[in-house]
Amino acid sequence: MTKTREIHLVRRPSGMPVLADFSVADANAPETGEGEIKVQTLIMSVDPYMRPRLNADQPLNAPLLGGGIGRVIESRNPKFAEGQLVRQGVGFREVHVSDGKGMSILNRDPDLPLSVYMHALGGTGITAYGGLLDIGKLKDGEQVVVSTAGGAVGSVVAQIAKIKGCHVVGLTGTDDKVAWLREEAGLDAVINYKTQNLAEALQAAAPKGIDVYFENVGGAQLDAALPLMNVHGRVPVCGMISTYNGGGEGVRNLFNLIYKRVRMEGFVATDFAHLNGAFMSDMTGWLKSGQIKYQETVLDGFERAPEGLIGLFEGRNHGKMLIHVAD
Ligand SMILES: NC(=O)c1ccc[n+]([C@@H]2O[C@H](COP(=O)([O-])OP(=O)(O)OC[C@H]3O[C@@H](n4cnc5c(N)ncnc54)[C@H](OP(=O)(O)O)[C@@H]3O)[C@@H](O)[C@H]2O)c1
Repeated sequence: MTKTREIHLVRRPSGMPVLADFSVADANAPETGEGEIKVQTLIMSVDPYMRPRLNADQPLNAPLLGGGIGRVIESRNPKFAEGQLVRQGVGFREVHVSDGKGMSILNRDPDLPLSVYMHALGGTGITAYGGLLDIGKLKDGEQVVVSTAGGAVGSVVAQIAKIKGCHVVGLTGTDDKVAWLREEAGLDAVINYKTQNLAEALQAAAPKGIDVYFENVGGAQLDAALPLMNVHGRVPVCGMISTYNGGGEGVRNLFNLIYKRVRMEGFVATDFAHLNGAFMSDMTGWLKSGQIKYQETVLDGFERAPEGLIGLFEGRNHGKMLIHVAD
């Protein structure tokens, strides 16, 4: 047996989660049986979608459901070799033994850091790519507004839209994220929704209206975007983070969908499996050419996963929030 640790949910949060809602539990990984592999977790991803699951779907006193990258350290399964990297959705466990179901071998490009497979070349990247191009039906040169533009999904959406020759406005919550989006990511305008009058600033930043509003927040940001939508505009609904801790403001401007003939459509990342080949090829090229830049906030230590998850709702991440567990 191998000593390991797991992140558990020990009580359901009320509103914003707090550290006491979680625990770091000692556990033992069993011996690796016939047909099984033992995997050491290297990087874990904390994501906003995990918060609504804490209300009901996430079992108490069991590993927090979440994804990451691991390395096979023992293999008695012919499909996996020792030393191989795997993408895993096995919950937050430092070391675990599995039959390999639901795990996929990660063939890494040696010229790119491993961590990009947890964002731009991973779940948040394909969410951005499919949400903008497939659901949003983006056309070259359109007028685009992106919420949570300083985060993992939003920063990629905004830069893909720039690659497609669009006028891109980002919404974010701190001045240093505003500066990065303007100076590094090359957005046309960026609004700090916490310090600026959102409706006025958005109208000034999008003088030709909005063809695509990429929705990550809901509430006040959706309300500010709706009156500016152009005829036949699209609102790909990726997320509504302002509602995940409960509460949040109601939306009053949905009537703008009618005469503007706006299409609003939700989606989940797994809808885009058919785009995976094009996505990996495009995104790898854009990362290598520097057309897509990224930021990461990496917390060092397995036990810091709850802090990372909570931090997403406090806007503490620049780009993707990751937990570094081992090299
Ligand atoms: N549909 C899918 O399959 C899918 C997949 C991945 C993600 N998503 C959604 O995409 C959105 C972004 O996810 P992500 O992984 O890229 O996270 P992220 O943007 O990297 O991190 C979350 C960011 O949201 C902002 N935020 C937090 N609370 C907020 C609030 N109450 N109002 C406005 N902004 C708030 C913060 O940035 P500021 O400093 O700018 O406030 C924070 O840094 C989320 O809504 C998520 O649920 C959907």
